[in-house]
Amino acid sequence: MSSTIAIIGTGLAGLSAAQALTSAGQAVQLFDKSRGSGGRMASRRSDAGALDLGAQYFTARDRRFLETVQSWHNRGWVAEWTPSLYNFSDGQLSYSPDEQTRWVGTPRMSSITRALLGALPVTFSCRISEVFRGTRHWQLQDTEGESHGPFSQVIIATPAPQASTLLAAAPKLAGAAASVAMEPTWAVAMAFDSALDTPIEACFVQDGPLSWLARNRSKPGRDGKFDTWVLHASNEWSKQHLDLPKEQVIEQLHGAFAELIGCAVPPPAFALAHRWLYARPVSAHEWGALADADLGLYACGDWCLSGRVEGAWLSGQEAARRLLEHLR
Ligand code: FAD
Ligand code: NAI
Repeated sequence: MSSTIAIIGTGLAGLSAAQALTSAGQAVQLFDKSRGSGGRMASRRSDAGALDLGAQYFTARDRRFLETVQSWHNRGWVAEWTPSLYNFSDGQLSYSPDEQTRWVGTPRMSSITRALLGALPVTFSCRISEVFRGTRHWQLQDTEGESHGPFSQVIIATPAPQASTLLAAAPKLAGAAASVAMEPTWAVAMAFDSALDTPIEACFVQDGPLSWLARNRSKPGRDGKFDTWVLHASNEWSKQHLDLPKEQVIEQLHGAFAELIGCAVPPPAFALAHRWLYARPVSAHEWGALADADLGLYACGDWCLSGRVEGAWLSGQEAARRLLEHLR
């Protein structure tokens, strides 16, 4: 009987589980529908270098995650980002410094997941549509009709709405995942030929269409000739404009940015938009991970905890812990 464990999703949760399992001597096989790893921590390559379109930075509050981030730091995968931080509220822009340590992957956010993936066996561009159990093992079916397996256990490390259908063999787990609503975020990246005349490097936005802006180039290890910015629309605005064509999303968010930033904003040398359909869970949970250990089916992801990078990593660790505990 195969003892390989299938992991669906190569975001941080899936890779965290993979790391914990391989460190314990288990064999894993990863799958992702995308062409590369990282999920919501992915970075987009562009003429202006790599741009972090999803997670912008992360904080570490749990002791285990803190230690792990420290080890990533020692290996050069992450660095501290200390932007000149602002807040925009009630139409007012104010300088808003604080003591919070904020980490970013270096030279791009996806460096972390790329390093964690290393040489682990992975199949990209493979969207799993069904996870089913034969008499003694698990089998996966992808949307091209191809079958993958056999596997001894399966860890589903996708956003909750995608996990719920893959968890059909364990109705209780499927029900829990289905109860988690996730909200969208429109992200826009823009590159300007010359630097905008502003000291702002990051800004939390409390009202209007935007929720966040960051000067991508102010993060450690990002260089290049363009002044690059990443804008995130609020979940509310993103929901209301879910199907707006990308050019119009760029135009509207560029307009909101120009109004907010308080300096001349020329047309960008280039701009791109990305829609994150399942950007963040509406509320946090304290599940750690979902498990039916007798069946050998597990689910993890940021939605099992805090809806943040830290939550994704911790959830992957928890899925692996519960799986290994059952093997003992
Ligand atoms: P994901 O990263 O979503 O990984 C899931 C993977 O599963 C993906 O690679 C996907 O392609 C794959 N997949 C899905 N369905 C299938 C299928 N059927 N078959 C195969 N593969 C499949 N967090 C912070 O801490 N700080 C921030 O500043 C921050 N900002 C954010 C901004 C945005 C716009 C977004 C979208 C998220 C942000 N987050 C932030 C949240 C953070 O990115 C996530 O919490 C974290 O990356 C989630 O990791 P994950 O592994 O749980 O899921
Ligand atoms: P954090 O502690 O830096 O921020 C948490 C929240 O506190 C911020 O959203 C902001 O509202 C507020 N805040 C923090 N410092 C501030 C300051 N100096 N001035 C004004 N307000 C400040 O980081 P944490 O807790 O790790 O959160 C991660 C970030 O990721 C948050 O900003 C969150 O909104 C964002 N996120 C975005 C998602 C999306 O889909 N757009 C999904 C998940 C997380």
